[in-house]
Amino acid sequence: MLEPFRSQDETEKISVHKTLDRLLNGGVETRTVTQLYGPPASGKTNLCLLALVRCVEQGKKVVFIDTEGGHSIERLRQIAGENLEQVLEKSYFYEPMNFKDQQFIVDNLDYMMNQDVGLIILDSAVAFYRHERNDENASELNKALASQIAKLSSLARKHNLAVLITTQVYSSYENEGEVEPVGGSMLKYWSKVIVELKREGGDIEAVLMRHRELPEGLKTRFRITEKGIEEV
Ligand SMILES: Nc1ncnc2c1ncn2[C@@H]1O[C@H](COP(=O)(O)OP(=O)(O)OP(=O)(O)O)[C@@H](O)[C@H]1O
Ligand SMILES: [Mg+2]
Repeated sequence: MLEPFRSQDETEKISVHKTLDRLLNGGVETRTVTQLYGPPASGKTNLCLLALVRCVEQGKKVVFIDTEGGHSIERLRQIAGENLEQVLEKSYFYEPMNFKDQQFIVDNLDYMMNQDVGLIILDSAVAFYRHERNDENASELNKALASQIAKLSSLARKHNLAVLITTQVYSSYENEGEVEPVGGSMLKYWSKVIVELKREGGDIEAVLMRHRELPEGLKTRFRITEKGIEEV
């Protein structure tokens, strides 16, 4: 007999910061892919590092796939404070050098799943994709990117963990002054929660673009500070 299974019954929320938690009805949800998109310096990596630290503090391990070429350990120290050692001990960092490396890492994440991982972060999901895509390989790369996010989504559901991905933006052709996330509808399909980050003067505005239990358009504002972020 085929055992009925409803994964929605068991989701949990990983608390990140009260500002973001409120926007996301408690935090980053397990069994779900959450996408943050925004221009450079809009706080995407900062929020990923915060989520990493908070997840470890909540007793789970974290896989961090960093395509940006090495995080500043100093920035992690500022955010983790006295918990830095524990955070480093409970995190698995990967630094792919190209899109193929990224694919390899995502393809092989099953091997990490006996490590009590609560969160997988892919920051950025699209940097290599965007850099390496051309007229000849576009369809192949589109397919590969979709398969990576599908894979992350299936790990999230199977192992009750959260997935956080970031994407960059490009200027919208249709709406002047607006931006669209790279990877558009393909990533939208797999990301059940989507947050847009915008720079507003010295602050950052986070806007909920998609959620399963909250209306789109909810907003919050924060500022990046030495220890992480603070609400404004
Ligand atoms: N100690 C600090 N105090 C205040 N602001 C800081 C501190 N460290 C970093 N920042 C700010 O964080 C911002 C960069 O944020 P972040 O790296 O999260 O952006 P991002 O959205 O990931 O950008 P990218 O698309 O380039 O990866 C910069 O504006 C920087 O000034
Ligand atoms: Mg970044």
